[in-house]
Amino acid sequence: MSSSHEVDSASSLPTGLRLWPSKRYAEMHRRSLEDPERFWSEEARKLDWYKTWDRVLDWTPPYARWFVGGKLNACYQCVDRHVKTWRRSKVAIYWEGETGETRVLSYSTLFREVNRCASVLQKLGVKKGDRIALYLPMIPELPLFMLACARIGAVHTVIFSGFSAQAMCDRIFDTQAKVIITADGGYRRGKIVALKDIADEAARLCPSVEKIIVVKRTGEPVPMTKGRDLWLSSLLDEAEMLVKPEPMESTHPLYILYTSGTTGKPKGVVHSTGGYLVFNNSAYEWVFDIREESVYWCTADVGWVTGHSSIVYAPLSHGAAIVLYEGAPDYPTVDRWWDIVEKYGVSIFYTSPTAVRMFMRYGEEWPLKHDLSSLELLGSVGEPINPEVWQWYYKYIGGERCPIVDTWWQTETGGIMISPTPGIEPIPLKPGSATLPLPGVDAVVVDAEGNEIPPGQTGFLIIRKPWPGLLMDIYGDPQRYQESYWSRFPGSYYTGDFAMRDEDGYFWLLGRADEVLKVAGHRIGTAELEDATISHPAVAEAAVAGKPDPVKGEAIVLFVTLKKGTSPSPDLRKEIAQHLRRVIGPIAAPDAVYFVDSLPKTRSGKIMRRLLKAVVSGQSLGDLTTLEDETSVDEVKKAYESLRKISESAKDN
Ligand code: WT7
Repeated sequence: MSSSHEVDSASSLPTGLRLWPSKRYAEMHRRSLEDPERFWSEEARKLDWYKTWDRVLDWTPPYARWFVGGKLNACYQCVDRHVKTWRRSKVAIYWEGETGETRVLSYSTLFREVNRCASVLQKLGVKKGDRIALYLPMIPELPLFMLACARIGAVHTVIFSGFSAQAMCDRIFDTQAKVIITADGGYRRGKIVALKDIADEAARLCPSVEKIIVVKRTGEPVPMTKGRDLWLSSLLDEAEMLVKPEPMESTHPLYILYTSGTTGKPKGVVHSTGGYLVFNNSAYEWVFDIREESVYWCTADVGWVTGHSSIVYAPLSHGAAIVLYEGAPDYPTVDRWWDIVEKYGVSIFYTSPTAVRMFMRYGEEWPLKHDLSSLELLGSVGEPINPEVWQWYYKYIGGERCPIVDTWWQTETGGIMISPTPGIEPIPLKPGSATLPLPGVDAVVVDAEGNEIPPGQTGFLIIRKPWPGLLMDIYGDPQRYQESYWSRFPGSYYTGDFAMRDEDGYFWLLGRADEVLKVAGHRIGTAELEDATISHPAVAEAAVAGKPDPVKGEAIVLFVTLKKGTSPSPDLRKEIAQHLRRVIGPIAAPDAVYFVDSLPKTRSGKIMRRLLKAVVSGQSLGDLTTLEDETSVDEVKKAYESLRKISESAKDN
């Protein structure tokens, strides 16, 4: 990678073709779309296959099947093949616990441990295709068990350790997982999170669970149910040292990961083995220019797709060294992250705009205390990054030396779709723009009818051709797969995002176009929040709106009507907020709960979300003529005014 990247300030945005097309990238992108099969078969050859594919792509819309007939193993790809080279003595994982202890795993240690974990699963009777739920803190056992599952062909479903028992149970119930792997606890901000208790509660509700494997992390006593719960340490005593990796069909699922959609039920996104790995392997070469000497740190939790691709599968497939940090970003002091960058010589650092905004508030004196000169490249993901935040990140973390890759993607896309690709060729960066689609990604911005729109106009982001990272299905719900992604713009993948392309062809991502919020970069469906709210006995109806928040991007605001005979009170407000934390998890905690007499609805009974959104964002109602239904403008105005008053008065007390 050359360090010659240019930054275009937002004030002097160039027009015309000065930036685009850049030769190498443009040529590659053109070639990839002209003959995708040829392009992706060349990329696929970078991996190790037991058997080469018969066909690169079977495209029976809306299902794409990549490298059909091919066989490979994700664990072999990320571990075994490195152990056959000098990398056996190279660091694979630098682990840092919140409490300050550390573990360093070389690739040969990773190989040994993964084999033993795979043997543990095998001895419990886990077979190819079985689903295994992982509910673990950010400790090495999390990637170890993901890879161990992949080794024997079991399908992992990682459940973010901040989710509640109910949320966990929903996911386990959907997958019918037989085994949960959890820990006696995890550390967060100095406190112990009682993961085993939550897992126990989930298991009580989920009859599919036969065994719970417990990793010792905190040493706190936890109840163990005889015959069901097993300490990992005892199982490892009996484990074999070698377990042959199972040659898996390229189209066999590697994992299921749940994400929020527009209904109350989260979607089980199914990713393939071959396509997913090929896509991610290439993307990390192009986007992060990941190399032998890279020390790669993605700060996401492994429980999100970012962690799956950017902590585990992509960097390990490249044989890079990764950093895995267990705890809170600003604990015990607000420079914890910068301390870690300095300590391990991190060269590639990948985080979310929410985190950068938080550190910006703490002030640059904290990063300035540290030698961050090992950094070569910075990344951003999960939500749009505001130009001022971009500039701060560029200056105080990157020392005005490191390009920032603003990477746009989704749980469903498996890997990065729109981003600068300094590993192909540095292009001029524009703060706030994710820039250009990766090779093989046919992204366009269209109007409601699906026609491509001119530069400068806002529309819907769609992808016109399948790519290898595309999800295979929604687990157990093919109809929802079809409806969510392929029915809005037939033949194209609908992302659910608003976007704009500028004169240079650069993409600007403008947030969700559907009923999904992005709170601190985490995706939460309004329907999921509303369902959880109305499960509180005092609540009659609920509606959720996302309010712009200077740190989190979006914050949750609840509008609630109460059941007859219940009166609003500050205690009830707190109780409802608590209830949401309990039902979903801390990420669902609302910033405000407003009690209202009625929710603004159209005549057909749909909640007027645009109106709620306008109220919480302090915006005017805008163009009322486009409101659906025959609801009168007056009614809408009245509802708007009364809600505004309620939210204003709530602010005062
Ligand atoms: C949604 C997907 C896969 C990464 C983690 C989030 C938003 C993601 C960006 C970006 C603007 C972004 C979109 C997208 N998003 N990256 N660089 N700029 N918005 O995965 O939870 O599936 O959420 O995150 O709205 O649709 P996810």
